[in-house]
Amino acid sequence: MPDGTAVDYDGLIPNNVGLADDARVRRALETWHPGYIDWWRQMGPEGFQDRLVYLRTAVGVGSEGWAKFGYVKMPDYRWGVLLAPAVEDRKIGFGAHKGEAVWQEVPGEYRAMLRRLLVIQGDTEPASVEQQRHLGATAPSQYDMRNLFQVNVEEGRHLWAMVYLLQKYFGRDGREEAEELLRRRSGDQDSPRMLGAFNEATPDWLSFFMFTFFTDRDGKMQLAALAQSGFDPLSRTCRFMLTEEAHHMFVGETGVQRIVQRTCDAMREAGIDDPMDVERVRALGVIDLPTLQRKANLHFSLTLDLFGNEISTNAANAFNAGLKGRYHEDRLADDHVLGSDTYPVLRLRDGEIVREDVPALSALNMRLRDDFVDDANAGVARWNRVLERSGLEFRLRLPHVGFNRRIGEFAAIHADTEGRLLSEDRWQAQRDTMLPTNDDNRYVESLMRPAHEPGAFASWIAPPTRGIDNKPGDFEYVKIEA
Ligand SMILES: [Fe+2]
Ligand SMILES: [Fe+2]
Repeated sequence: MPDGTAVDYDGLIPNNVGLADDARVRRALETWHPGYIDWWRQMGPEGFQDRLVYLRTAVGVGSEGWAKFGYVKMPDYRWGVLLAPAVEDRKIGFGAHKGEAVWQEVPGEYRAMLRRLLVIQGDTEPASVEQQRHLGATAPSQYDMRNLFQVNVEEGRHLWAMVYLLQKYFGRDGREEAEELLRRRSGDQDSPRMLGAFNEATPDWLSFFMFTFFTDRDGKMQLAALAQSGFDPLSRTCRFMLTEEAHHMFVGETGVQRIVQRTCDAMREAGIDDPMDVERVRALGVIDLPTLQRKANLHFSLTLDLFGNEISTNAANAFNAGLKGRYHEDRLADDHVLGSDTYPVLRLRDGEIVREDVPALSALNMRLRDDFVDDANAGVARWNRVLERSGLEFRLRLPHVGFNRRIGEFAAIHADTEGRLLSEDRWQAQRDTMLPTNDDNRYVESLMRPAHEPGAFASWIAPPTRGIDNKPGDFEYVKIEA
């Protein structure tokens, strides 16, 4: 039996779940594998599939030394099934079954709910790969190209993680869902991905960095909530996915940070102090700060929609069932049942946004969204330190949660970035000050020219302070010459 940390690399599918001794699931996964590779070749990164990329591959699940770096062609990446080590004597931490031993099999009464949770999470993983597939050609450096591909192969592995759970625990239904996960396509008219933000285009690298900063952070919050699950295989799966997810947010946060840095440096060199002097800033070949703010407004608001309705019985049911907890559930000091607790939620009342206490159980989506906003704000503060150091007054900030929403309480209204309600006319008149304009998008697009030489960087982004795996600045992360 696997001890839960050693990874078996001998078979087709690296794993630490004992696939060698589990013929049924191994066969199901091996049957699914060719379809996955087809999907990867069709919908994964465009170009560069036969190039060597300096990627990390998980080789263990312990806290230290879990990954090794080396050159690999993406289609040969060892996508595996990896679970974090089991916690001995683990108990369900919340809901109606609090204190009972965690489940190693799916409880019959919760089968449908659990399957739905797995499918929704699983669907986001290939979706982001599809959204990002065109970006390799315009990578602003080899370092960034490598990071893009790293994120892509790991999202692919996250799909494997969910497909394993579906095939292992849901029999024929699970196999059908696994096929469907390869069939849906981001942005497709007839067969789109399940969630809105995963059907939006990621047309340029600024969008990519904003996406990994905001939308991968939604992924982190969802995984953290599922890592609390009383269904132990799901908890262990998500705990390991979170170690990979951290890198995705690092890519987003430092990507934007380096853009801000480059813009500040170029403005200083040119003697421009006014960030609103957009024309002169753009003439320097860097991205002006107001455009960065509008892009952040867009990606933040799209990502908030992923948390669903403010008041949700689904979320309450999943919590009661012990399937999906709160962020850091195991560190919270309350009864973890929430029978009579309340939670403050922003709602629309008589044309005004007001704070209202509602039963905590029905406000779990909101609570997770609030935790997300706090987490995102910490990253924004780190962006602002660059602006501070550069002596500029300008600060980036997150818009009000009611701004530009399509799901939940605020879908019915227009609000500005401060949360003031706007009429349709006012919204139309102000929209272009708050969301990226066609002109912004065209300008960013015009900057998307590749810098594919080792050590070269596009005009609009600063080099990183440190290389991946401590490699020097001119390291060849992608062997672009065949
Ligand atoms: Fe993921
Ligand atoms: Fe991710």
